[in-house]
Amino acid sequence: MSLLNELGLKYRTDKAVDGKRGEPGKGHDYLRVYERFSMLERTEVRKVLEIGVQKGASIRMWEEYFPSATIYGLDIAESALNVTGDRIRIQLVDQSDAAALKAFAEQNGPFDLIVEDGSHIWSHQIIGLQTLLPHLKPGGQYIVEDLHTSYAAEFGEAGGMTGVQYVLKCCEKILGSSRVRSSNEEDSLIHGLSEFIDSVMVLRYAAVFFAKPA
Ligand SMILES: C[S@@+](CC[C@H](N)C(=O)[O-])C[C@H]1O[C@@H](n2cnc3c(N)ncnc32)[C@H](O)[C@@H]1O
Repeated sequence: MSLLNELGLKYRTDKAVDGKRGEPGKGHDYLRVYERFSMLERTEVRKVLEIGVQKGASIRMWEEYFPSATIYGLDIAESALNVTGDRIRIQLVDQSDAAALKAFAEQNGPFDLIVEDGSHIWSHQIIGLQTLLPHLKPGGQYIVEDLHTSYAAEFGEAGGMTGVQYVLKCCEKILGSSRVRSSNEEDSLIHGLSEFIDSVMVLRYAAVFFAKPA
């Protein structure tokens, strides 16, 4: 029994075990895994950010799951602004715009939890990680979802780095630390990550980055 999965089913996000319209077993089934491995204390969480609001299913799920948190949501579709609530704050920000993401995070962060469920475009997944990982609280977590789009050409450019490749480079850097040799270009891609990230968990279609505790 997973409370988070129950709430995902209630609000009909495909992060739950069933699909958005209740199709049995057709969801991504992220939520049971998140709850099993999360080290976040539900009642202590104060700020959650999700990129990708759509109709607000997951935003409402987070709002109920984290009773003391403000839930921030970013999207490019104006309809996302219709998702409202006492602890819900939606803004129109394009996740491909690193400067806009940074400005948003400087104004509203740091966050206990960041969930990236936006365009699923490879370069956008990488921009999100590079820009927002430094805006996690100590002990905070960043989840990048739907990484299986790395295997679908329409989400990237031929020869471009995929989301999965970026995550694996980060894992390699964490596993090998200074023993991992990388080009200057790769160094700037992983962006001093090991200063604040001490572990990464890989699961089906997604990865979770854990910020070092205080
Ligand atoms: C998969 S849906 C989000 C579903 C939602 N998280 C849920 O579980 O209920 C993806 C959302 O990302 C938004 N999106 C697409 N491209 C984006 C971009 N460049 N920046 C921000 N949001 C984007 C879409 O408008 C859409 O609402």
